[in-house]
Amino acid sequence: MFYCRFLLYFYLLYFGASFRVIAASSQGNDKAPKNLHLVKRNAIKTRPSDALGGLEPGDPAPAFQVHTLDGMFVYSPRNESGRALIVHAFTNKSAFLECLWTWSESLSDLLDYLPSSTEVLMLSMDETAEQDALWMREQVYRAAAHRGKEILSRLHFSPTHVYNLGNWIPRVLYSWGCGGHNCGLGQVVFSSPDWKGPVIGKRLNARYDWLYAHWSTDPYRLLDVGDGCAPVASLKGAVAWVSEGGCSFFTKIKNMEKSNATGVLVYALPGNNIQDMNCKGDECFTSLHIPASMVHFQPKVKEALQKGRPVNVKFQVTPSRSFFFGIDQRGVLSEMGWFLYPSFRFMAWQAQWFVFNDALLEQLSQPAVTVSVFDHHDMHGNAGAHAVVDLPADISPYDVLELDTSLSCPGRRDETCAHWDHTVQLFVCCNDSSPYCNQELGRWVTAFRRGTGHWLTDVSALIPLLNNKKCSFTMKTAPWAMPWMTTLNLRFSQSNKTERLYPFEVMPLFNGGTFDKDYNRRYHEITFSIPAATKKVELYAVITGHGSDDNNCGEFCVTSHYFLINRSINNTLVFEAAGSPLGCSLLVPKGGVPNECGTWLYGRGGWCDGLQVDPWRTDITSQLDMSGSNSVRYFGLFEGRDPNPKTDPGNILMYSYLVFYQ
Ligand SMILES: *[C@@H]1O[C@H](CO)[C@@H](O)[C@H](O)[C@H]1NC(C)=O
Ligand SMILES: *[C@@H]1O[C@H](CO)[C@@H](O)[C@H](O)[C@H]1NC(C)=O
Ligand SMILES: *[C@@H]1O[C@H](CO)[C@@H](O)[C@H](O)[C@H]1NC(C)=O
Ligand SMILES: *[C@@H]1O[C@H](CO)[C@@H](O)[C@H](O)[C@H]1NC(C)=O
Ligand SMILES: *[C@@H]1O[C@H](CO)[C@@H](O)[C@H](O)[C@H]1NC(C)=O
Ligand SMILES: *[C@@H]1O[C@H](CO)[C@@H](O)[C@H](O)[C@H]1NC(C)=O
Ligand SMILES: *[C@@H]1O[C@H](CO)[C@@H](O)[C@H](O)[C@H]1NC(C)=O
Repeated sequence: MFYCRFLLYFYLLYFGASFRVIAASSQGNDKAPKNLHLVKRNAIKTRPSDALGGLEPGDPAPAFQVHTLDGMFVYSPRNESGRALIVHAFTNKSAFLECLWTWSESLSDLLDYLPSSTEVLMLSMDETAEQDALWMREQVYRAAAHRGKEILSRLHFSPTHVYNLGNWIPRVLYSWGCGGHNCGLGQVVFSSPDWKGPVIGKRLNARYDWLYAHWSTDPYRLLDVGDGCAPVASLKGAVAWVSEGGCSFFTKIKNMEKSNATGVLVYALPGNNIQDMNCKGDECFTSLHIPASMVHFQPKVKEALQKGRPVNVKFQVTPSRSFFFGIDQRGVLSEMGWFLYPSFRFMAWQAQWFVFNDALLEQLSQPAVTVSVFDHHDMHGNAGAHAVVDLPADISPYDVLELDTSLSCPGRRDETCAHWDHTVQLFVCCNDSSPYCNQELGRWVTAFRRGTGHWLTDVSALIPLLNNKKCSFTMKTAPWAMPWMTTLNLRFSQSNKTERLYPFEVMPLFNGGTFDKDYNRRYHEITFSIPAATKKVELYAVITGHGSDDNNCGEFCVTSHYFLINRSINNTLVFEAAGSPLGCSLLVPKGGVPNECGTWLYGRGGWCDGLQVDPWRTDITSQLDMSGSNSVRYFGLFEGRDPNPKTDPGNILMYSYLVFYQ
């Protein structure tokens, strides 16, 4: 069920392309004619609001004010930590937004997960803006009826139509465009020979990860088959028109697949809302191979079908404005990424990331000796990013080394970002003839098409790798990946521990390899003694699981890794979250990039998309004989046993050390 991301990607690429065209052309319209400055230079200078065309992600958000149901909402630019603001523009023309606003789980996600430092401004793009504002507020109030109401003071509902705001907000909504699941207007177009024109309605596709098929743009014949709770005679080539209720969405689609239907349209009963058609429990382990969407009931369609008149249906996506953007705690404009399904949880995830990023920037403003290695350096191809830098003359006073790393994209919008998640590794060499040359100093995994990743990784234990004044750094990802712009600063500092310990020597232990039945045979016990003056010994490992065998190993299977000291004490790392539905989303508060354009939500084997890989560190001093000989053995297991894949074994990417401190 996890291979879906490949299909998802092609689907998104397909629709993404049509939106990009729109974004580019509206950008073009926003630009002043080239010669304007020659004619009216002064006029332009004295009217700065005319110069707002270039608002892009990363720019400071200008001041604005908006009428709301509870008075005037005033935004003034900020420089330092304040509250983040998310702006949402609703339209009833989107089935996705209808579901976002009516699904109880979505509304409770808003109430439960929106961080307390975030406010939301809700707008409407429809002629019924005033009713929409009242309705949105009502939806939230109803959901909040039995809860603490603190959040309500942070939600603002504007009765002013987006087109009447008279400020820069519409310009961002228009020009940023929209290419994700959360935007574009998914529609169905019904036609019948007796009608003057087509009947067009909104649709919401069934959730992608259990469905392996997509609508084509060709017309299909529509056939009424009741509630779809039992298979029917052959529907070959037709789309089944099925009412909601009676059985699960999964059952309906499964039955229609058995009946050889080409696809399924489930209609909401009159007065009901379009729902997020997803699988539940065990259903999710069965994949389905025909597309399905949910739509509103259409009396004209029902009538024509009852009369035995032919009805055809086509599927289309009309591009839309952006429905969301953010302003972070420091007043910086930000895209919100993709909402993979209609839940306010995605809004909350983006807001959680704003909180993380604000704290990170605060941490980075603390004093440290920094060395700039890469500054928006192009990381691409076999060479990756490479630089030779001078370290501070004396690093011996520092017991802390952190990597301040960010990955951005060639352009300012996420649409310019590389599409795939790939491992990024940083290698360092400070002495060509030293065995420590080209050891891995840090590891990250790129986000699916989002350029905001920024992480601070504590690699203090590896200070001994920096054993010379001049060091060369190489950061690489898959050579075929689209380019990333990497920024890396080394930060040397002193911890405020009462007794500082300094790592003075590292001893490389085990590396990973193919996770097959011979995996553990490659490892042998290592014996070692402790260097004189050692006060502490630490086991340090960076381990990630990749690939996909018949057990989904190592990306999505739970593997465990043992470092057995003196044949008597296991130090164990288990990737419990691998394969869990929301495993990686839980790491957004720790810097995981949210709302990526792919299956970033699932837990993985020791890593997440858009996140650093945290080194695993264990103090093993008490397990050792400090004056005698000791031993360490490694083995890695799947479900408590040696791995034994039937197909395409995965691999474990690992480096591990003993670190000696004095
Ligand atoms: C932000 O801070 C800088 C320096 O303190 C100041 O020059 C600038 O005017 C401030 N900008 C805003 C929007 O407050
Ligand atoms: C959305 O449109 C439908 C159909 O026109 C209407 O019944 C419903 O009240 C509208 N909802 C909102 C929030 O405007
Ligand atoms: C669906 O198609 C298959 C293959 O053509 C056929 O064997 C099967 O009988 C059909 N099922 C129905 C319900 O018509
Ligand atoms: C480089 O490493 C070699 C081998 O460990 C060592 O002999 C040499 O002294 C090192 N050079 C410097 C400048 O540290
Ligand atoms: C320094 O110590 C204080 C109190 O022990 C702690 O709260 C703070 O986070 C520490 N600072 C750093 C940079 O570790
Ligand atoms: C270490 O863990 C392995 C795997 O669970 C187990 O077979 C072994 O008995 C453990 N060894 C010790 C000494 O606990
Ligand atoms: C570790 O093993 C060595 C022999 O390999 C032994 O001498 C030593 O006592 C052991 N240490 C502990 C803490 O068990």
